[in-house]
Amino acid sequence: MGNKYFMKAGMYMLKCKADYEADIAKSRDNRMKWWRDARFGMFIHYGLYSQLGRNEWAMALENYDIKEYERLAETFKPKEGTIRKWAELAKKAGMKYMVLTTRHHEGFSLWDSKVNPYNSVNYGPKRDLVKEFVDACREFDLKIGFYSSLMDWHHEDSWKCAFDREARIRFTDYIKELNRELMTNYGKIDILWYDVPRPMESPEGWNSLELNQMVRELQPHIIINDRSLLPEDFGTPEEHLTPGEKDWEACMTFNGISWGYIDSEQAKPYSYTPQQILRMIQKVTAFGGNLLLNVGPKPDGTIPEEVIEPLTKVGIWLQENGKAVYGQKDKIGNTNVCGICNVTSEDKILYVWDIIWPSNNSLVIAGICNAQLKEVKLLKDDTPVDFIQDGHRIILKNLPDTNPDQSVGIPVFQLEFDKKPKCNRASYYPQLNMGQTFL
Ligand code: GLC
Repeated sequence: MGNKYFMKAGMYMLKCKADYEADIAKSRDNRMKWWRDARFGMFIHYGLYSQLGRNEWAMALENYDIKEYERLAETFKPKEGTIRKWAELAKKAGMKYMVLTTRHHEGFSLWDSKVNPYNSVNYGPKRDLVKEFVDACREFDLKIGFYSSLMDWHHEDSWKCAFDREARIRFTDYIKELNRELMTNYGKIDILWYDVPRPMESPEGWNSLELNQMVRELQPHIIINDRSLLPEDFGTPEEHLTPGEKDWEACMTFNGISWGYIDSEQAKPYSYTPQQILRMIQKVTAFGGNLLLNVGPKPDGTIPEEVIEPLTKVGIWLQENGKAVYGQKDKIGNTNVCGICNVTSEDKILYVWDIIWPSNNSLVIAGICNAQLKEVKLLKDDTPVDFIQDGHRIILKNLPDTNPDQSVGIPVFQLEFDKKPKCNRASYYPQLNMGQTFL
């Protein structure tokens, strides 16, 4: 087989990068179908740092002495049942998967690790929180994601590895064995979410090719993000909704301030409203991505008030209008069919998300010149909507005085055409059809 493959003592056959990436590309569509359909997930940042309420990076940003920081392990007391409530809220919010920080940069493992004694079974709650998380996700039929930091401020080799070969071997082996435990001891895991490949700055530095082949050997259906410095399955724009060339998932804090818990009352003015969350969902849907929205539970594991009402309202909206979000949708990008609407689309169907309810009982949707409109209805309850189609203008008529969407105020109209509609933005000078094809 030449040097394309090499056998590690007592291990499976390792592939070279080109063969590994060719292999996982073959199975990607099949592995990722549920993820692409899911659209919306919950990120959970929970760890010793949650007790400080000053950001998940507090240990580093405040230059804690390790011995001083370790004392947080004894006072870390998540209440029984709180992890199940995370999953219950995620389900209620219309989220289809969850990703939990199994071990953040602070190096404290939330599971019964034999590799890392600094964990939630030996200290604090003396419970396997990852097991509770997995059980809760399965109870609420949510797919399971493990966040796994490549940094570890508690491990003495985590910085030496940058310049000490032996330390790098010890540290990358440590990281590998941590992930082996996670991929072995908790049944089927759906997502592995690496974070912060520092200090090494190459996949070779992390032995990512070997690490991820082990992961896929243990979890053949798993989806892996791009933060072990191999492209893997999806990109991870953070705190912004920027589409990538391949599958992508925007991960967002709830307040633009911290992933870990911060005082909920003071965070509220900065926290997303249901309307803002839905506008993010519309954008990731229109650009072919996912939204992973973060919750940073309180020190005792309970859910911060700032997220409860917004997520509950988004969930009600998604129950009524989820057809415009879930499942395979066309990547249509920005499509301004009118000044107060956003759009998602699926073949002959256009979902028009009306952000501002018109005061004149009508709504003009312009620029669709290639398809005949057959039917318009209110998506949430199939109420028929009167319309006329005049050239490139569609006018929805006889709309009620009050907004029909009471939960969030964003009603969705479902427009069915005789073929896939294309929006050629006809400008003020109709003869100057800008030829922009959005759909
Ligand atoms: C950044 C932060 C980290 C957080 C992650 C979430 O990497 O350093 O604390 O967990 O974003 O994507």
